[in-house]
Amino acid sequence: MFESLQSQPADKILELIQMYRDDPRADKVDLGVGVYKDATGLTPIMRAVKAAEHQLWETQDSKVYTGLAGDPAFGDAMVDLVLGSAVPRANVAAAATPGGTGAVRQAFELIQMARADARVFVSDPTWPNHLSMLAYLDIEMVPYRYFDTETRGVDFEGMIADLKTAKKGDVVLLHGCCHNPTGANLNATEWDAVIAVLLETGATPMIDIAYQGFGEGLNEDAAATRKVAASVPECIIAASCSKNFGIYRERTGVLMVVSSDSKAQGLNQGTLAYLNRQNFSFPPDHGARLVTMILTDDALRADWQAELEDVRQSMLGLRTQLASELQRLSGSDRFGFLAQHRGMFSRIGTTPEMVAKLREDYGIYMVGDSRMNIAGLNVQTVPILAKAIVDAGI
Ligand code: LMR
Repeated sequence: MFESLQSQPADKILELIQMYRDDPRADKVDLGVGVYKDATGLTPIMRAVKAAEHQLWETQDSKVYTGLAGDPAFGDAMVDLVLGSAVPRANVAAAATPGGTGAVRQAFELIQMARADARVFVSDPTWPNHLSMLAYLDIEMVPYRYFDTETRGVDFEGMIADLKTAKKGDVVLLHGCCHNPTGANLNATEWDAVIAVLLETGATPMIDIAYQGFGEGLNEDAAATRKVAASVPECIIAASCSKNFGIYRERTGVLMVVSSDSKAQGLNQGTLAYLNRQNFSFPPDHGARLVTMILTDDALRADWQAELEDVRQSMLGLRTQLASELQRLSGSDRFGFLAQHRGMFSRIGTTPEMVAKLREDYGIYMVGDSRMNIAGLNVQTVPILAKAIVDAGI
């Protein structure tokens, strides 16, 4: 029966991981997949995660099933981390999922279940897997303008004009912070304008927040999500713990649905549990349990926040270093946007041919749309990258 299968396109981000591994050059630089690397090139296990694992190993006496929505304590801890006190807890349905991607996938299925004809508005560009999952589920997508290729900032006027064409029953997918792949983000006033358009059109926002703590700080990065959730009648939020807890392979995420009352919350909570059951039954628990332990223990939480802040500061430092090195070598300010962007990524805004040239001639790996993982750099590799960019004529 399987002879009828068609080979599927490789995921561009994951394909790069293999190409990089196969490259024998010692001085190659990996700016592909979004993982944080320290100055030695290692993606470390965070101190609080290690401590929680140690504690868990000593105290956990059963691995019996949790609940279909995961351990409720994890849901509570994550609702608090992402939403703070923006909305009443009783109005939020929350279910643990296998990673942030799992949350996004469950959200898309929820949307489809609720309204088979819903269209999902996606930023142009967005994380490629958003598009791939929507296509797989046969959900109609509508791109909205987002990235200004001239300024490398947000094409805000274009974005608003396009979002105004959404209607009730449509969903607008927004990146809560640290836009992937561009690194260009809305400011607070622009978020307010987006909220006004959502209220005007009646479209439902869905926020993908995968990098909380990597941009301006833990609370600052959640501010837009909180404001949206508090302003609109219904909102979907997919949050990831992969990056900010550094537990990529543990697959830890949460899907939240915010509604205006606790009656709707009950229906939403039941539906999230049902959807989990259909797709994988109980969600993975190990990462979720570590996150819960960290968020609910003062000492672990303080240590986690301190380390996360160090990671954030180091990314900011790399951004400043790269922008000033490029300024020095190119004699122009045209790369200044790198210091303005936030999060792991920046789209440098060059052609696929240039990206291929950087890979082939200089051993620098970035995604074909010229997205660089800033967190893959270190103080030694920044000058190498800057020189390659200028030498290649970007
Ligand atoms: C990325 O965009 O590099 C990350 O979100 C990892 C992934 O799964 O693509």
